[in-house]
Amino acid sequence: MIDTHAHLTMNQFKKDLDAVIDRARKENVSRIITVGTDPDDCDRAVELANRHKDIHAVVGIHPHDSDGVTDEALAKIEAHAQNPKVVAIGEIGLDFYRDYAARDAQRRAFREQIRLARRVKLPVVIHSRDTSLEVLQILEKESADEVGGVLHCMPADPDLARRAEEMGFYLSIAGVVTYDKGARDGIIRSASPDRLLLETDCPYLTPVPLRGKRNEPAYVRYTLQRLAEILTMFPKEVDELTTRNAVRAFGLDRT
Ligand code: NI
Repeated sequence: MIDTHAHLTMNQFKKDLDAVIDRARKENVSRIITVGTDPDDCDRAVELANRHKDIHAVVGIHPHDSDGVTDEALAKIEAHAQNPKVVAIGEIGLDFYRDYAARDAQRRAFREQIRLARRVKLPVVIHSRDTSLEVLQILEKESADEVGGVLHCMPADPDLARRAEEMGFYLSIAGVVTYDKGARDGIIRSASPDRLLLETDCPYLTPVPLRGKRNEPAYVRYTLQRLAEILTMFPKEVDELTTRNAVRAFGLDRT
């Protein structure tokens, strides 16, 4: 399995990160993609990826931190993008549910970082909450299909999923599917199987039966099991399928 979206550099892992990585390896998580959310966090994510063969980094400024998208911050992200262990720009997008940053700042940060991704020719990892339509409009206007990428923690919005897929994006399935009462089942079944990915978004979104605890990459197996149920496939088949997809989505065979 590949955990395509983790936040290993967050404080929640400060005390026992090595044990967390060991447990993931023991549970057959062959690679972890860790996502930096602000410039300093991106430094830590890249450093961690440099230290471990099976960890890769995604760099960018999270919609919540959009106010911090200065020229200097963008230059830092662009410099990190030259590192071969950096496999995408993200997570970027819009979050009109939490609204931690002003909406105009979010829009600008999103557009600037799609342009950056096109300059460095890396895919983008998209965060979309309560704002599918506008996310799609910006992706289209900024020609994000030129680099493609991943719709992270796929929202339960069939139109967004379909349009994202048409633009060459992958749909990443998080632990939410273990407790969303089937809200995403139909979208997943009608998606093209070679577009599906697995992720934890740890330390958040812990899957059932561990909901309430801190999430970690080893727990991606619960999401795999649930995805296998939805697709009526064997977990082993879904493991092979999503692993192949993740390697293709992030060009992992190159690093
Ligand atoms: Ni995330």
